[in-house]
Amino acid sequence: MRRVLGVAVLGAGAIARAHVVALKRHVEAFPDAPAASRLVVLAGRDAARTEAAARRLGAPRWTADWRGILDDPEVGALINAGPNDLHAGPSIAALAAGRAVLCEKPLARTAGEAERMAACAEQSAAASMAGFNYRFVPAVLLARRLLCDGALGRVYHFRGRYSDDSLLDPATPHTWRHDRGRAGSGVVADLASHVVDLAHFLVGPITAVTAAVRTYTPARPAPGGEAPVTVEDAVAATLEFQCGALGTLEAGGMCPGRKNFLAFEVNGRDGTLAFNLERMNELQVYCGGGRARGLADVLVTEPDHPFGGRWWPPGHVLGWEHTFVHQWDEFVRRVTGTAHEPVGATFADGLAASRVCDALLVAADTGRRVVVAGPGSDAGKAEPGAAGER
Ligand SMILES: NC(=O)c1ccc[n+]([C@@H]2O[C@H](COP(=O)([O-])OP(=O)(O)OC[C@H]3O[C@@H](n4cnc5c(N)ncnc54)[C@H](O)[C@@H]3O)[C@@H](O)[C@H]2O)c1
Repeated sequence: MRRVLGVAVLGAGAIARAHVVALKRHVEAFPDAPAASRLVVLAGRDAARTEAAARRLGAPRWTADWRGILDDPEVGALINAGPNDLHAGPSIAALAAGRAVLCEKPLARTAGEAERMAACAEQSAAASMAGFNYRFVPAVLLARRLLCDGALGRVYHFRGRYSDDSLLDPATPHTWRHDRGRAGSGVVADLASHVVDLAHFLVGPITAVTAAVRTYTPARPAPGGEAPVTVEDAVAATLEFQCGALGTLEAGGMCPGRKNFLAFEVNGRDGTLAFNLERMNELQVYCGGGRARGLADVLVTEPDHPFGGRWWPPGHVLGWEHTFVHQWDEFVRRVTGTAHEPVGATFADGLAASRVCDALLVAADTGRRVVVAGPGSDAGKAEPGAAGER
């Protein structure tokens, strides 16, 4: 008999639904999974809305106080899909109570918070994972394998961008995402954190940044009038990598026509890889040599491609929700101590991304080049004069 992992989900928003869909579909695509998963309880804030969401998602129990789920003996794992200000507290409490935790990105609002979470994960026997689901796009994973195989030779450039139109309409109501206290930052936490994680996943650690940010909509509708937007709507940055590569990053929610345009390009001595989430089944590849000296579109659905054969025959493409199923499979393998190819982000990876996000904000505040904090580095400090001298 396969073990059953009881799961609590914190948050009843859009992303909580994606996780619930994933845990329900997991065994269908991964019949070799070491455990099946069962949604046991949904924790939200507003009682009526949480109850309605629990009915919709098929949760047998619900609560408007997340603390109760840690006393539930049926709960073996927590999916933390709450807003950013609820990542650290419940995740640390769950790990301390011996529950495995899959926490959404960004791991925390600040690197300081992420440090506490990573330290707790390090000390806990329970499994943990940060929800950077785009690592689980087959085309992204193929890019990583090509880079690890050295197919591009020495890497010179990384260009990453995340553009959508979610902030364009000034009538869109104020939410926790527009409040620095609750979100940590705006598009830096929400969008750029994904780009930073993919940059780390593909090219390696980012060691220094420069950045500029803009807020184009200073206030948004809120009950009783308007509330101030205290976060940035756009960021543009340069990135320096430990391997010597130079990169750029751009993220913004004021890009008409862009819906979920998470894109990167990596240029190496021997080739180039390019990806765009709006065409998520394709990887553009140029690996030098031959007569065709341009990027070719590779449809990443072959049986020997990442996750190939798990779903449909070649050419029968996958969607956004499949990344959550792939991620959940690795999480379950971590929870059960089953061997797996480590793809997903650890809490340490989440901390690394948070340190870069903090560095981007310091760089934007000071107008200076900032060395990214890390063990042994000069924690998130702007380099005096460096911006002007370069
Ligand atoms: N990996 C991805 O691609 C991706 C995509 C979207 C969002 N996210 C992340 O997921 C998290 C949630 O985002 P979302 O879009 O679902 O947000 P959302 O605003 O749609 O949902 C947040 C949920 O948390 C609940 N909540 C708020 N305060 C609470 C409290 N005190 N106790 C319990 N529940 C509470 C709300 O009721 C709501 O159901 C964020 O950290 C975000 O960065 C990740």
